[in-house]
Amino acid sequence: MRISVVGTGYVGLVTGACLAEIGHEVVCTDSDTEKIKTLESGGIPIYEPGLENVIPKARKLNRLSFRVNAVEAVSAGDAIFICVGTPPLPNGDADLSAIDHVARLIATESTSPKLVVEKSTVPARTGQELKRALSVYARRSSVTFHVASNPEFLREGTAVEDFLHPDRIVVGVESESAERQLKEIYQPVLDRKFNCPVHLKSCPDGPAPQWLVTTINSAELIKHASNSFLALKISYANMVADLAEKLGADIDEVVRAMGLDPRIGRSFLSAGLGFGGFCLPKDLQAFVHLAERSGVDFGMLREAEKINKQRIDRCIEKLRGALWVLRGKQIAVLGLAFKPNTDDIRFAPAIDLVNRLLSEGAHVRAYDPQAMERSRATLSQIEYAHSANDAARDADALLIATEWDEFRALDWPRIRDVMARPLVIDGRNLLSPAEMRKLGFEYRAFGRPD
Ligand code: UDX
Repeated sequence: MRISVVGTGYVGLVTGACLAEIGHEVVCTDSDTEKIKTLESGGIPIYEPGLENVIPKARKLNRLSFRVNAVEAVSAGDAIFICVGTPPLPNGDADLSAIDHVARLIATESTSPKLVVEKSTVPARTGQELKRALSVYARRSSVTFHVASNPEFLREGTAVEDFLHPDRIVVGVESESAERQLKEIYQPVLDRKFNCPVHLKSCPDGPAPQWLVTTINSAELIKHASNSFLALKISYANMVADLAEKLGADIDEVVRAMGLDPRIGRSFLSAGLGFGGFCLPKDLQAFVHLAERSGVDFGMLREAEKINKQRIDRCIEKLRGALWVLRGKQIAVLGLAFKPNTDDIRFAPAIDLVNRLLSEGAHVRAYDPQAMERSRATLSQIEYAHSANDAARDADALLIATEWDEFRALDWPRIRDVMARPLVIDGRNLLSPAEMRKLGFEYRAFGRPD
């Protein structure tokens, strides 16, 4: 099928590239012309494992192209995936102006029937507004539009894999033709009929993804409800971790046992600095607002948000407990990205933590395997190290803020030797307390006995 993708951020670029990978002819556009120029010249503006294979391959097969001209891009597809940003407004609501802008563009420039698929995470009922906007903006045209919601469940860092091997594909539709077109688009994924790019770690032979057809309103709600539940799980684990510390229990033991209950599951119960990124915090906030406006008091979500914000305080308390005064102290921070395998620092707990350290008068030298370039643009008051070792040099304490695998495998005895004081605050419970203490570190983590 011929598909247009509007927005080439993390979601749009992965969606466009993977739709081309499974055999469609895809044209992508973005209001950021620099981004499109980078893509046109063979560059990839974000770090997302797998894209470096999928994009060049699809371009070589002439299945994937990038256009600065949005009208051309939108005209090219029979289906248009809207993947533009919906950032939070100061009041916590999602800013839907980019979606409205795209709706106007599609409505006024289309000369053939279009399936308009909303992929950006949007509050429930946005699909209905999109439908209304299309018909208002296209009042002088006779083109037919079908609207669908197809929420993404892509995790940054494994987004290519998640797209090609999803557990479920949710399509919210109001017409048989929209359902049929979406089925045709996703058929290769449902049948697993595509040559999976070799770089993927796991191409599971497990069960095929579930194909779920719902109303548009339900599809939108599924996305928000899923992300908010994940956020709840993390905040719950963080509170249990705080309690475990007081009671002398070990959070690792607790969540391992809890996770063996299939009704609970182990994932998203890792305690530490809490959740960040452009999805979970924003979706949680937007969901709370949506509930409020609908007259439903979803107080437990507000609590989850509050708990998450307090994780930074908890970490600073631990540091202060060990260092007494933070002013003038040299702190090494390992990890700036909001999670491993990405260069994304949006709403990263690590960035909040660094800002808190700076406001307390500490000196920060940070290292991240991928996110330093992006951090430099917003965080100029810190030093950037070229390795974890370099960050640790003469440090009074070292904070682990992102759960990169690389940090597990560091040469810790060497790090101990270059630090002014061998103090590690493990904000992601990444290392073994017993091993770190055996190596001579003062080691503190979250929910683990000191
Ligand atoms: C999330 C959803 O998982 C995905 O389905 C959706 O489509 C987009 O939003 P992502 O933003 O990539 O994906 O991040 P995710 O893997 O969910 O992690 C979010 C944050 O939670 C990270 O900062 C991570 O470090 C933190 N986290 C995760 C924890 O603190 N503890 C955990 O147990 C798991």
